[in-house]
Amino acid sequence: MINQQIYKASEKTIKKACGLLKSGELVSFPTETVYGLGADATNGLAIAKIFAAKNRPQFNPLIVHISSQKEAQQYVKMNDLAKILADAFWPGPFTMVLPLLKNNPLSELITAGLDTVAVRVPKNTTAHNLLQQFGGPIAAPSANISGQISPTTAQHVASEFGHELQMIIDGGPCEKGIESTIIQVTKDQVILLRPGNITTQDIEKIIHRKVFMVKNDGHKPNSPGQLKSHYAPKTPIRLNISEPKDDECLLAFGDVQISDDTYMLNLSENGDLKDAAANLFSMLRSLDKMNFSSIAVSPIPNIGLGIAINDRLGRAAAPKDEN
Ligand code: TXA
Ligand code: MG
Repeated sequence: MINQQIYKASEKTIKKACGLLKSGELVSFPTETVYGLGADATNGLAIAKIFAAKNRPQFNPLIVHISSQKEAQQYVKMNDLAKILADAFWPGPFTMVLPLLKNNPLSELITAGLDTVAVRVPKNTTAHNLLQQFGGPIAAPSANISGQISPTTAQHVASEFGHELQMIIDGGPCEKGIESTIIQVTKDQVILLRPGNITTQDIEKIIHRKVFMVKNDGHKPNSPGQLKSHYAPKTPIRLNISEPKDDECLLAFGDVQISDDTYMLNLSENGDLKDAAANLFSMLRSLDKMNFSSIAVSPIPNIGLGIAINDRLGRAAAPKDEN
């Protein structure tokens, strides 16, 4: 079925998208991590539409996407530490939570009452062109219903929102496949709120000091995306499985030898964590559609990018009633 809302990325498409955004509508667009559900970050009514469409709790703040570090300085205070990190990782899959400037033009709904805001300069060409043409900040969470798996293709977005969206810009599958790394920068500390493609080691190499892990008491999350159950398919998930049961399918990693009867998708046959991250959400979606009693997942090494992959898998496997 051809979806009327999906438009191939082009100059004409971006122009139309800017028009929709200016008039307070939502537009889904690709980034290098996952597809975003974008709205004009200065328009409260438009931001309210994001929360309604995603069924997202109002206490969960949004990421503001911008086209440059210079633009960021219109909205947030950037100390030297933040500037060093921006120089190193922007544009890219990297989000910084920074103190909001007074008299900023952002809608208050974005921050959920916090005095900080999350900002990111994406690298994906379509996202970048959209931001430049729009000429202002675009708030965008991942384009999925709250708690579900993040979308890495335009078709995933269409399957989440049906005809509710007027426009989904199709820029092909997302290169990275999992959401950006989120850190909070304080006066002299960097705190990891969500692991992602830019790893703790990548950050420590740049700042020559330790990155701290967020302390989460599970009640009032510092980064609400840290909710225990998240990215959750309908099918139950079992982690670290070497021998799947008869009625299970397998999400494999590496050179896995199992019986031919088991249905399997492999995140990366040669054990490449980058490929595994790029395939993760797409393969989870495919397996979720097949009505197996559960999805078994091979062990994934908990190093480098494997930490972000295991973080998402852990949330996908968490009991849903803990959310
Ligand atoms: O890769 C990404 O980051 C994608 C693409 C579209 O850019 N976006 C994304 O947005 O993953 P979302 O809304 O699904 O996740 C944003 C996370 C949430 O967990 C939210 O709680 C956290 O960022 N966040 C936003 N503002 C924050 C703040 N001021 N303090 C702490 N956490 C914040
Ligand atoms: Mg999300």
